[in-house]
Amino acid sequence: TASDPFVVKSRSPSGRVLILTLNRPKALNALSDGLFRQLNAYLAEADDDDTVASIVITGGDKVFAAGADIKELGANTFAAAYSRDALSSWQRVAAIRKPIVAGVAGYALGGGCELAMMADLLVCTPTAVFGLPEINLGVIPGAGGTQRLAHLIGKTRTMDMVLNDRKLSGKEAYDFGLASGLTKEGESVVAAATKVAEQLATKGALALQAGKEAVNACEWKR
Ligand code: HXC
Repeated sequence: TASDPFVVKSRSPSGRVLILTLNRPKALNALSDGLFRQLNAYLAEADDDDTVASIVITGGDKVFAAGADIKELGANTFAAAYSRDALSSWQRVAAIRKPIVAGVAGYALGGGCELAMMADLLVCTPTAVFGLPEINLGVIPGAGGTQRLAHLIGKTRTMDMVLNDRKLSGKEAYDFGLASGLTKEGESVVAAATKVAEQLATKGALALQAGKEAVNACEWKR
């Protein structure tokens, strides 16, 4: 409902940055279908809104997202999910044309890690926890995370994460090239990500969009 949204929408002080905060704190921001519907709607709106220069996706200063909603996943069969193309809602985030900055504190696990990787820049706290624990559930990261991560940090580290649930700290994520920035001691990750997005907002809108598109063209076909 509007009074209890899965995603809270706000603007930076300049008004140029749209800040989308995942808001299911009791479920560690688990990414339910409802949450994704709202996130996608806000992102699509932002792409069409000239007053939005850049976008922050964050879970706030405690947790980014502990993955897809396991309770929903459990109710699904592969055939049902495949036939209704359940994963397409995830891919829509990657197709947004305006630059997206992820702000990650705490857990970014499974689908949460995949969502963070769909952003163009990623700011995290040194103690953030990135992981792909899907293997423990007998599944794989299904939203392109395996390919994205290999591009970002290399095959060996990715295998360790995907096959063996090796976690990365935020500090490691930065050292390995998954994160573009780290918060300073005591700094809020939301503030830090917003600062990066504000910097983007000073650049030309078309150049940002074209730059994003051109860089992504070297990775894979969507
Ligand atoms: C639904 C979740 C959840 C999730 C946590 N919760 N993760 N609900 N989906 N992914 C809920 C718990 O049920 C609990 O609710 C509350 O959040 C707090 O969680 P706790 O486990 O009590 O917290 P803590 O002990 O601090 O442990 C944190 C944790 C653990 C280590 C992150 O919650 C955990 O391991 N979660 C699952 C992580 C995971 O496997 N993610 C990958 C999902 S698969 P109650 O009501 O009991 O208080 C995936 C596939 C993606 O993402 C496919 C892409 C298409």
